[in-house]
Amino acid sequence: MTFDVAAVLQQLTLAEKAALTSGSSFWLTRPIERLGVPAIMMCDGPHGLRSQSASGRGLVNEDELTATCFPTASALASSWNPALARQIGVALAQEARARKLSVILGPGINLKRSPLCGRNFEYFSEDPVLAGELAVGMVDGIQSGGDVGASVKHYAANNQETDRQRIDVRVSERALRELYLAGFERVVRASRPWTVMCSYNSVNGTPASEHHWLLDEVLRGEFGFDGLVVSDWGAVYDRVPALRAGTDLEMPPLLPHSPDAVVAAVEAGELDAAVLDARARTVLELVAKGIGVLDREETFDADAHHALARAAAAESVVLLANDDALLPLPATGSVAVIGEFARTPRFQGAGSSEVNPTRVDLPLDALRSRFGNLTFAPGYLLPDGPDADPAELRRQAAAAAAGADVAVVFIGLPDLDESEGFDRVHLDLPADQLAVLAAVARRNPRVVVVLVNGAPVDLRPVLPHARGLVEAWLGGQASGGAIADVLSGAVNPSGRLAETLPLRLQDNPSYLNFPGGDHIVDYGEGIYIGYRAYDKAEQDVAFPFGFGLSYTTFDLTNLAVDISGTAADDSLRAAVSVTVTNTGDRAGAEVVQLYLRDPECAVDRPIRELKGFAKVALEPGESTRVTIDLDARAFAYYSERFGRWVIEAGEFVVEIGRNSRDIVLAETLHIDAPPVTAPLGRLSTLFEWVADPVGRELLTEAIAGGQAPAVILEPAFLRGMGTQPMRSLAAFAGGGVELEALDVLIARWRERTGR
Ligand code: BGC
Repeated sequence: MTFDVAAVLQQLTLAEKAALTSGSSFWLTRPIERLGVPAIMMCDGPHGLRSQSASGRGLVNEDELTATCFPTASALASSWNPALARQIGVALAQEARARKLSVILGPGINLKRSPLCGRNFEYFSEDPVLAGELAVGMVDGIQSGGDVGASVKHYAANNQETDRQRIDVRVSERALRELYLAGFERVVRASRPWTVMCSYNSVNGTPASEHHWLLDEVLRGEFGFDGLVVSDWGAVYDRVPALRAGTDLEMPPLLPHSPDAVVAAVEAGELDAAVLDARARTVLELVAKGIGVLDREETFDADAHHALARAAAAESVVLLANDDALLPLPATGSVAVIGEFARTPRFQGAGSSEVNPTRVDLPLDALRSRFGNLTFAPGYLLPDGPDADPAELRRQAAAAAAGADVAVVFIGLPDLDESEGFDRVHLDLPADQLAVLAAVARRNPRVVVVLVNGAPVDLRPVLPHARGLVEAWLGGQASGGAIADVLSGAVNPSGRLAETLPLRLQDNPSYLNFPGGDHIVDYGEGIYIGYRAYDKAEQDVAFPFGFGLSYTTFDLTNLAVDISGTAADDSLRAAVSVTVTNTGDRAGAEVVQLYLRDPECAVDRPIRELKGFAKVALEPGESTRVTIDLDARAFAYYSERFGRWVIEAGEFVVEIGRNSRDIVLAETLHIDAPPVTAPLGRLSTLFEWVADPVGRELLTEAIAGGQAPAVILEPAFLRGMGTQPMRSLAAFAGGGVELEALDVLIARWRERTGR
């Protein structure tokens, strides 16, 4: 089945064009049967397909439709492995094909501004380079067959669930550019996603779906997005302004009101017919791309996808503590497995991303198959579980632990704590689970804690009891097997934290401004989220960004930086190379993390920022050379004053770290760049005139010619008056240049500099 987009567009009536820009049902685009344009289907989601058939109403999952539940985003991000994200993307697309689904609504790449955001389990990271690179991997995978597309969401600054439809995010352009838009920019430029989903919230006073600057100027104009903007489900509040701003497709459709309103607006001359044509064309182009899945009968290999989900979950595990090399556990010893989560696993979050899995690996079963001598005690109850006496459960758990070589205690957040639609209000683990942990540790100090959660929890009550600490996240349907793989050493953990684990909620930079109120949230912390803030404030954290242990050890040596090009025309490039050696006796994988510092800058910058990374797998004793490439943007900050990215000449430090707090190699570079100054004028300060070589020369000439007093170049005067604009300086006793003379200097400055 194919059709010619241009030919169809020409034949469409106004009503048909309007109808095309809203869907026809919860998941379907509008078919135009008389012209051979079918409907295509879009559906969630980011780590597995939602249980929806094309006829579905969309609100409730249709349980007969199963799909592989891969690790959720916060888990997968901890793999720091875009190639793995790509493999999962390929698998998601195959499952989509089998359902005749053309667009997968994911990945979600919003940044983790606060650990409380209810959807953090669905998002990758607090860092835009990491989130962006993982998105590139996943989108490339989803789109690799050419017949299934991705929808990267939620554009933009959708970082909380509280009041998500009406909240107005007040955020600086610099924070938007350097953080919240940066991941979208990366994936749009690298992977050309078929669609981007605009978010529910407003940004600086305008709903995202009506945001001309965000959609048309930045996304399309600057980032080069050539796909379709679909609204988040229900994020169009006014169809006509949304169309004008750049939202092509309203989902789900508000029928018949939206198409009628569009027709009326065109007829009344309020909406340019050319705008509607452009939007209708984009919808047709999407349908033409997504049509391929409709004709073919496809299946997918559920076993192979389950195996991939297991490998991915194992690679997502982050080993946080391993005192006295307690892990991996020997197969021969006795193990007490404690915690209802081992038997009733939690492996995904709630909301639109919920998957009806093809099967579920229970951690307890998987551990039993690895450890012959195993006892189990539930320890605590989960909501909706059978009734039991908590004290008795605790007693049984402690007794089981006392009789074993090691106790493996599963604790985590209950289902109801993490979901789309609301935010958490604290980071606490359930008190009854912590009580079990303490009781177990009293009887047997050899405790390994396995954490099951989609976002950070308060680890202070956990750390004193955990000799081994394994962050398993919400690892998808195969996470039970994956946890057993890591605990037994069948898999050597190689996950690294994609977000800081803070000690206290109050330490988080957004604490005073989350989730806002009065329909407004102020991103008062600006560019300081995650490690950018914790590192700047030298705040103690439970575990820093990028942290993760292995059962082997790695050396990082021989840092070399090869610079080419110039900052003057954005051709600046740096190839950063380092040798990685596995110095232990097990195969394993290291994540080389490249941070950049700009120690002196006219504007405030974070201590260091992640600019690139690479994951390498090495056999014991093996070495390899890794090269990470940086482009000009890596060196730049976004200047609101100049309305552009700016590279300031001077020193930069390239750092190679094991995490944001453990830098092992560093090299200082000197980067030349054109000076960053505005043209001198009446409102330029005395300092700015003196700092500018031509300005200083002109002032010296003016002093010699008697148009300016000599005092203005004296250090004491400069110290006191340097920040005064030249325009008003003459009015201050003893200093300055009269306005007429100043205008002459400005004219000469322009002549000499050509600016
Ligand atoms: C969510 C999206 C999702 C859509 C469709 C919305 O409520 O925010 O992430 O793709 O519903 O289920």
